[in-house]
Amino acid sequence: MIEALQAQWGIPTAVTFAEGRNGLPLVTLTHASGARTDIYLHGAHVTSWAAGTGEELFFLSQASHFAPDRPIRGGIPVIFPQFGGGLLPQHGFARTSAWKIQNTAVACDGAVQAELVLEDTAASRALWPHLFRLQLAVELRDTSLALALQVTNRGTSVFPYHAVLHTYLAVSDIRMVGVRGLQGTTYIDSLRDDLREVETRPEIRFAEETDRIYVNTPDAIVMRDESRSREVRIVKTGMPDVVVWNPWIDKARRMVDFGDDEYRTMVCVETGNMAGLQVLRPGESRVGQTVFSAETGKCV
Ligand code: BG6
Repeated sequence: MIEALQAQWGIPTAVTFAEGRNGLPLVTLTHASGARTDIYLHGAHVTSWAAGTGEELFFLSQASHFAPDRPIRGGIPVIFPQFGGGLLPQHGFARTSAWKIQNTAVACDGAVQAELVLEDTAASRALWPHLFRLQLAVELRDTSLALALQVTNRGTSVFPYHAVLHTYLAVSDIRMVGVRGLQGTTYIDSLRDDLREVETRPEIRFAEETDRIYVNTPDAIVMRDESRSREVRIVKTGMPDVVVWNPWIDKARRMVDFGDDEYRTMVCVETGNMAGLQVLRPGESRVGQTVFSAETGKCV
């Protein structure tokens, strides 16, 4: 399988296929600057991103499953068609589905691109009776990584959905981290019976479990990691909401695929439509995009 993928979609020095953990197929994009990203076909799951400096920017749990029926813990799980719990499995089925490569390319400006696709199957229709196409376009540049998630209704009836990039950022020490850009935004506090309040702080800091949906936020968010003098900028379009999540100590202990102390070294800043369902009519498509860019050595 890897040889066939390499023969069809590989591009010397830029796009390479390999067996990842537990033999799951993995594609690595490498930019001329040395920037690199790994994407598992299982879930179209980006598990690693290192900008040109070589520093890893995404968190990946040491305890993660790497199995066809389990989500990977870390990187960027793609959440569709349901965020959270409900009739479907938690966070939907896209993150545990086998995606296919639809295209790979190196653009004339050197950006390395891969596009992955997932369509409904008998198994997905048994859970969720809709005909859909999901496309995830990943584009790697020297200091940025862009993901565009497109949802298409291929069927004959309207469907509602959530589509989310559930990004786990790596941090050196959660107590030295701030998330900026959400002041003045209403949030739904999942830890307080979905109470709605307005964020008053210019910067969100972490000293306890945090699990909030910020509704209809500004499109530029910044995660500042003071210990590493690093900023990761997150710029989104067509993705109205942001979830800020850290499980902290007790929840970390309850999660089987997450180390007890790993809450210290991650924060999730998720982008998508978690606060409300979006709707697509037959034949319609909608795209949401998130661009991550990293700057280290910043005086933060
Ligand atoms: C976040 C939710 O998006 O995902 C949290 O807000 C949840 O409530 C977390 O715990 C992780 O979910 P899962 O299904 O990957 O364990």
